[in-house]
Amino acid sequence: MNSLFSVKGQVVVITGAGGALAGSVARHLAAEGAIPVLLGRNLEKLEAVASAIRSATPEAVCLPLSADVLDRQALESVRARVLQEYGRIDALINGAGGNMPGATISPEKTFFDLDPAAFREVLDLNLTGTVLPTMVFGEPMNAASRGSIVNFSSVSATRALTRVIGYSAAKSGVENFTRWLSVDLAKKSSGGIRVNAVMPGFFLGDQNRALLTNSDGSLTDRGNTIIRQTPFGRFGEAAELHGAFQYLLSPASSFVTGTVVVVDGGFSAFSGV
Ligand SMILES: NC(=O)c1ccc[n+]([C@@H]2O[C@H](COP(=O)([O-])OP(=O)(O)OC[C@H]3O[C@@H](n4cnc5c(N)ncnc54)[C@H](O)[C@@H]3O)[C@@H](O)[C@H]2O)c1
Repeated sequence: MNSLFSVKGQVVVITGAGGALAGSVARHLAAEGAIPVLLGRNLEKLEAVASAIRSATPEAVCLPLSADVLDRQALESVRARVLQEYGRIDALINGAGGNMPGATISPEKTFFDLDPAAFREVLDLNLTGTVLPTMVFGEPMNAASRGSIVNFSSVSATRALTRVIGYSAAKSGVENFTRWLSVDLAKKSSGGIRVNAVMPGFFLGDQNRALLTNSDGSLTDRGNTIIRQTPFGRFGEAAELHGAFQYLLSPASSFVTGTVVVVDGGFSAFSGV
């Protein structure tokens, strides 16, 4: 293996690791020799990812631990356990997040019908749910002056996607936080800690399947609009995110901080014309 892209031996805390995208990234990193700490609310889902890791790579090491990303105490318990087990945290991937139906403006409604409580909830999960784990797991990285933090953005962070008002605001916040923290920690760690984000385009998963596909597998109107706007003419596959995460955790990106790596089949580049 070329050491330029090596993640071997890195202890990587991954939030939302029971989910479609972060779970797939966790499996890949484990196969590459990293030690993923699988964090999420549902221990059963995390155990399933852990057993997929072990059956694909019997020598792989991983640690499933449940915690809510909005519960600081639970995150601190996870941190204590990880430090006891491995003595360090090398990287953090903030994968917990997603849209919530209440914070969405459906076609028959207007912005003025928005439920402020649902709006706050989606901001909390995606933005506070990125900031809090970064505070907790970033602390040992800060003490060691080395580490890599990678957040999940979305194409909705920079472009107006109809309906998803709360999610878009939250992901814009995640991008801004990525840049802010990259500068702050770069100065304080002499470049030892890097903070970046990955912006996935559209990947089919449990959260958006009903919005983008019908029960017979055909595309909904929204699904068709997205595919028309994606020059590659298809949704992404989770495995197509692996390289971006591996790059941002590896020595190949040693001078890269405050950036957003876009993995969207051309969605953001295309004017639609
Ligand atoms: N799927 C896409 O097309 C897409 C596109 C752009 C960005 N994203 C982002 O990628 C990330 C992963 O998305 P996904 O599609 O894999 O979603 P997913 O729903 O499959 O995974 C998200 C995981 O986060 C966990 N989670 C939710 N709330 C939590 C909490 N409070 N504490 C701990 N864990 C919690 C869920 O249980 C789930 O396992 C999210 O941030 C999402 O916003 C997804």
